[in-house]
Amino acid sequence: MKIRRCAVLYIESREQLSIDWRAVLAGGSGLAADSHWVALAPHLDQELTIDGGELAALGAISQTVWNERAACEQRHGEDCVARLLALGLLIGDTPQYATTRERDETLRATHWRPLSALAHTFGRWREVTSENGMEAPSFQALLDQFGEPPPPTFDLPAQGALKLPAAPGGHLDEQLLHRYTGRNFDVQAGVPLEVAARLLHRTFGAQEVRTIGPHSSVLKKTSPSGGGLHPVEAFVLAQRVDGVAPGLYHYHPIEHELRPLRALDSVAAAALAKQVLADQHWLADAPLQVLMVGRMERSFWKYRNHQKAYRALALDAGHLSQTFYLLATEAGMPAFVTAAINDVDIERMLNLDHLRHAVVAVCGCGPAANGPRTMVELRYGETDAI
Ligand SMILES: Cc1cc2nc3c(=O)[nH]c(=O)nc-3n(C[C@H](O)[C@H](O)[C@H](O)COP(=O)(O)O)c2cc1C
Repeated sequence: MKIRRCAVLYIESREQLSIDWRAVLAGGSGLAADSHWVALAPHLDQELTIDGGELAALGAISQTVWNERAACEQRHGEDCVARLLALGLLIGDTPQYATTRERDETLRATHWRPLSALAHTFGRWREVTSENGMEAPSFQALLDQFGEPPPPTFDLPAQGALKLPAAPGGHLDEQLLHRYTGRNFDVQAGVPLEVAARLLHRTFGAQEVRTIGPHSSVLKKTSPSGGGLHPVEAFVLAQRVDGVAPGLYHYHPIEHELRPLRALDSVAAAALAKQVLADQHWLADAPLQVLMVGRMERSFWKYRNHQKAYRALALDAGHLSQTFYLLATEAGMPAFVTAAINDVDIERMLNLDHLRHAVVAVCGCGPAANGPRTMVELRYGETDAI
């Protein structure tokens, strides 16, 4: 049997602090730190504690060349190799280890930059709720806890500054100046079908399909995209869209159609929205929501093992969400975008693989409970009119 190390592995030294009361009573600080090694491997999607011997073995066994298991055992010990194989940090070439081998090979084949794969894998949320983590502190609470924030901008020396003329009005002002994040959606109101169609098409739809090879094409959308690849897909969670049964859909950007994935009754759709949004009930009532998911394989086709590719994906989703906001504003509705979402729950719902896909953000919109208005938001769930 042959073995090798998994493709991507980072080791973190963690410490657990405790108080040694005997030492405190003896007049010392009593603070004791207990350090241990934690192995972080994206193909396993869980943190694993290892010991010093296992750390040394992982450092010595190639991630590329397949080694004879017996030779590794001789050097590092049978128990050590067996444990690392069982954990999935070492990969075996026999059927017994097919599952972790397949995950490791998926990671290798996707061309992740290792640090990006790490940040992505271990930055995902699962089953976060208002009880176990999702917080919405007010500015006042933050001021009380942390004191004054840094100033709102750099304030570099003004000597020689060129005072600019007042910004003239323009066509986009109506949308730009009335755009705001809604947190008070009307639970009775829906989005008319033609409004939803315009929102989806003008944000996520292909305005043009350009052929770049015999079987290859790129899409032109209203937002820019890193590398022109538009790796962000739109999955629609419809709660109240006229003519659309509540449920989950994939929006096909070329065919401009909603392809059904899961039908839901309105109670289940509302519950799913809350789950997706980590219990942010102030957003969950939005009748039309879009789950933005990056296809890494599309992005990494060009940006192989690239330091910036993961950042570009987040920027793409940001551009799409601003376009979505402006179109919602045009239709007289507030919108929202959030990255405080349960990525892993969404992956399960949509049957996605975190090694190949990245759930980035969710946006949504709908009529406001008290009609359209211009607001400045001070606290999630609270608004002050300006
Ligand atoms: C990347 C990003 C993440 C955000 N996450 C949340 C969120 O988790 N919950 C929320 O209620 N609003 C969220 N927002 C909305 C911001 O809080 C909002 O844009 C900000 O308060 C300014 O208000 P405005 O959009 O009305 O100008 C997010 C916005 C962005 C761009």
